[in-house]
Amino acid sequence: MDQAGTLRRLVNKGGRMPDTLDSGYAEPAGAGGSIRTISVTSGKGGVGKTNLVVNLGYALTKQNKRVLIFDADMGLGNINVLLGVTPKYNLYHVLSGEREMEGIMLEGPGGMKILPAASGIQDMSQLTNHQKIFLSQEFERLAVNFDVLLLDTGAGISSNVTYFCSKARDILVVAMPEPTSLTDAYALIKVTHEKHFLKRFKLVVNFVRNEKEAKEVYRQLTAVIDKFLPKVALDYVGYVLRDDHIPKSVRQQKALLESYPFSKSGKCFEDIASRVFEETRPVKGEGILGGFLGSIQGKNLSAR
Ligand SMILES: Nc1ncnc2c1ncn2[C@@H]1O[C@H](COP(=O)(O)OP(=O)(O)OP(=O)(O)O)[C@@H](O)[C@H]1O
Ligand SMILES: [Mg+2]
Repeated sequence: MDQAGTLRRLVNKGGRMPDTLDSGYAEPAGAGGSIRTISVTSGKGGVGKTNLVVNLGYALTKQNKRVLIFDADMGLGNINVLLGVTPKYNLYHVLSGEREMEGIMLEGPGGMKILPAASGIQDMSQLTNHQKIFLSQEFERLAVNFDVLLLDTGAGISSNVTYFCSKARDILVVAMPEPTSLTDAYALIKVTHEKHFLKRFKLVVNFVRNEKEAKEVYRQLTAVIDKFLPKVALDYVGYVLRDDHIPKSVRQQKALLESYPFSKSGKCFEDIASRVFEETRPVKGEGILGGFLGSIQGKNLSAR
């Protein structure tokens, strides 16, 4: 049976629960510093990535962590819209030399900092070597001031999305209990694994009625991953309940945890934030975003 067929079968009938996964990947050279880099991504759009990034960021600031959010959803970035802050400049202006990183940073709720998406740059994977070196150095310089860097990568399997996934130390995949979300999450994991050799992903399931539903999504995804991508491991991190307070907070242009801290989804975001912080590992300054430098050594880019 093909992969899509297997997923459909699992969605309809259920499959086996995978064995406990071991920790799977090696500590990168130089790890042991102080910043966690976490990309939040999804195969299918509209599954709640931006809300997760914003509320994770907010929950972590409440836990006294210094949070930097990078809106890496080129072209469609909307963290600023969600938080009601208006960027005048973005990464494009840093690359063009008009502004420094500090000059484009916005202050979000709880004191988190936001680097706005670079509208005008279509594809970060196509930056020149010079631009990558420059950005790499800028991120390294900024990193000393933060404990966590969260990247909202946008949806899909474009080179931009998988590029940013490959640059973060940890990847949070967001899915929801719908067959299309499952197949798209699987496609994203497969492409990122094959293109960037990443082996470990974390799963957050959004829009669920209860934890059981989230665990079922995890079970279905891990079953197909075990079968077709045996080198890949998927960790379950948590779930977010379907909650009308979320669209309400979006309309108010506030983080849910700011507007409705005691709502049912608020507790979910807080739980995920604690787990994510515990279960991710920090990288050193030179390793921020995997080092934009790292990709320069790749043969495909050597002529750039
Ligand atoms: N748990 C939830 N309960 C109810 N509504 C939710 C929930 N999570 C997200 N939403 C709503 O779903 C919509 C999409 O959320 P969000 O913008 O965070 O998704 P996204 O994955 O970032 O989308 P895109 O792929 O377009 O960037 C928003 O209108 C939001 O209010
Ligand atoms: Mg989004």
